[in-house]
Formats: sequence, structure tokens, C-alpha cells
Amino acid sequence: MSAARMLTGDRPTGRLHLGHYVGSIANRVRLHRHHESYFIIADLHMLTTRNSREDIERVAGNAREMVTDILAAGVDPARATFYLQSAIPEVGDLNTLLQNLVTVPRLERVPSIKEMARDAGKEEIPYGLLGYPVLQSADILCVKGQVVPVGRDNAAHVEVTREIARRFNHLYGKVFPVPEMITAETPTLVGTDGQGKMSKSRGNAIALSDDAATVRRKVRGMYTDPNRVRADVPGTVEGNPVFAYHDVFNPDRARVDELKQRYRAGRIGDVEVKEELAVALNRFLDPIRERRARIEADRGLVDRLIVDGTERTRERVRATLVEVRRAMGLTSAYNQVRRRAERSRRAAATPA
Ligand code: TRP
Repeated sequence: MSAARMLTGDRPTGRLHLGHYVGSIANRVRLHRHHESYFIIADLHMLTTRNSREDIERVAGNAREMVTDILAAGVDPARATFYLQSAIPEVGDLNTLLQNLVTVPRLERVPSIKEMARDAGKEEIPYGLLGYPVLQSADILCVKGQVVPVGRDNAAHVEVTREIARRFNHLYGKVFPVPEMITAETPTLVGTDGQGKMSKSRGNAIALSDDAATVRRKVRGMYTDPNRVRADVPGTVEGNPVFAYHDVFNPDRARVDELKQRYRAGRIGDVEVKEELAVALNRFLDPIRERRARIEADRGLVDRLIVDGTERTRERVRATLVEVRRAMGLTSAYNQVRRRAERSRRAAATPA
């Protein structure tokens, strides 16, 4: 019996950070061991908000960094297939076919679309951005993905995928598994500035690749309880990003509870709480740093992985497309035309 297939991935726009780790990478690391796993480098999705020449020129470098981050986080290269989306044109073919299985109002209700447009400073939504969840459906369905670990912001996209898969199977016969979505239990990680989720473009992120000194500096500059002017003023733990990070990354629960109590009572300073957080974060990041050093020591490793993975995935996707065209009757449509053309040629060649 072969293992269930998992598909997940990211747009190649920069280095992965702790928010990505909490939101989906932790799940991917756990799940990839029991699945046939595919990791997409979604450069076509990147184009929906960033399509300048400069953005595109950065894809190759960002792809390598992103895959390095994922491996450093604990994904075993022997158990994962990494691939570059734009190198598999059949994904676009499937996207074209799936576009007819969802309506414009349905896509307009996907909250992340408006968010992405806003974050990209776009007043009007590009056609491709509206279709973002459909393209993501094409990614998932072209490898017949069954399990999709994603961050919460992507949950609505996988929901669209499930609807499209059902609709396709209903209209044309059972081709696609209806994929299961897996999102993190933990809430979305807030940024170091306490202003919404961690995001590189907002400058409030701690990267998985940050060194120990950078982590200490970023933690020292973190937003805490703004009403707390001195260490002997009782502080608020709820909604305080420093404690939110302690909750996620400090394995010493008893110590975290003690810090919270003392903070609430005004018996510990922000500095001390932050210092302990920096230590906890660096302890969490150390094994990631060690794995990164080993990966980077093998210069061409990541590029080779991406190329081999892209070839393997393309074979799979091609097979899916043959099946899809057959199920839809498109193969037979062209065959009919060909047979008619053939007959007419023969008729023209035979003297009356
Ligand atoms: N939408 C994902 C992101 O936020 C990237 C992505 C594209 C993806 N296709 C996917 C994730 C398929 C999971 C499955 O960057």
C-alpha cells in the first residue's frame, strides 16, 4: 500500500520565519514522514501580486533559500519532492479547466484575496489574484494531493479546492481525491511589533536563518505592555507578544508560569523576561542552524533536489492531465475531429 500524498509549499518571496514555522512548517515536518510529500515553490502564485522583472529575477535565489529553510527546519530530503511550479506548464492547463467549476462571487468571498491585494498596495484585484485559489487547486489536484498542511490564511483556498474536486468528480467522474486540510492548533503568531501577524514585509519577523545576536536584538526591541513604565508596575500577559512567544517556544512551562505571575505582580522587569525569551528562541533555533550548516556545506544539493523533484512531479502531472482530458471528453473530441479529417482526406484522394 502506498502512503497518502501530501502537498504544501510557499511563494518564493523571502526567508521563512517563526510565523511560518508555527503556522505550517511544524505540521509539515511531522507529516512528511508518513506521506509521499510534495513541496511546491509557488512562483506563479507570487506573480499574482509581484510580477516585476526584479521579482522574477529573484525567484531562483529565493527558491534555493526557501528549500534550505524547509530542510533546516527538519524535512528529510529523502522523503520530500521539491518542485518549481512555473517549470510545469501542465499546471496552467489544469488551472484553465478548473476555472469553470467555481464562480466569481465565490472567489470574491475568499478573505485572503482582498488582504493580499491590500498588502501589495493594489486598489483593484488583478484577474490572476482573484483566481489564486483556483491555481492553488490546480497545484493540489494535479498531484492528487490528499493532505494539505497550510497556515490559517490558506484555509479558504483549500476549501475552494475541495469544492472544485467534488464538482469535477460529479460532472466528469471520480478523478480527484477531496483533499483534507491541516492547519495549526496554535493561534497565528503575532509579529515582534505586536501589530498583527508576523510578516517579512512588515519588518516584524524573526527568520529561521537569523543568527543568535540578531535574535537577541530583535527580542530586545519587542513590543510588550505599553502601560508598563517600570518593572514594579503590574503588567499584562494577555496579548503581550513576549509571552505569546514564551508560550510557543519556551519548553519550560513551569518557568513560563512563574514569569507570568511575577510579571502580573510587578515583580520582574521586561528586560529579564526578554532575555529568557531570547535564550529559549536561540535554543529552539540551534538545531535548525546546525542542519542549515550541513546543507550549505553541500553546495549544489538544494539545486539538484529542485531539478530532480521538478522532473518527477512533471511526470505525475502529465499523467493526471491525460486522465482529466479523458474524463472530460476532450480527448475524444479531438479524436472525432481527427477521424473526420482522415476520412475526408481519403475521400478526396479516391477518384469519384
Ligand atoms: N498559497 C500558498 C502561500 O501562501 C502557496 C501555495 C501555492 C500552496 N500552491 C499551494 C500551498 C498548494 C499549499 C498547497 O504561499
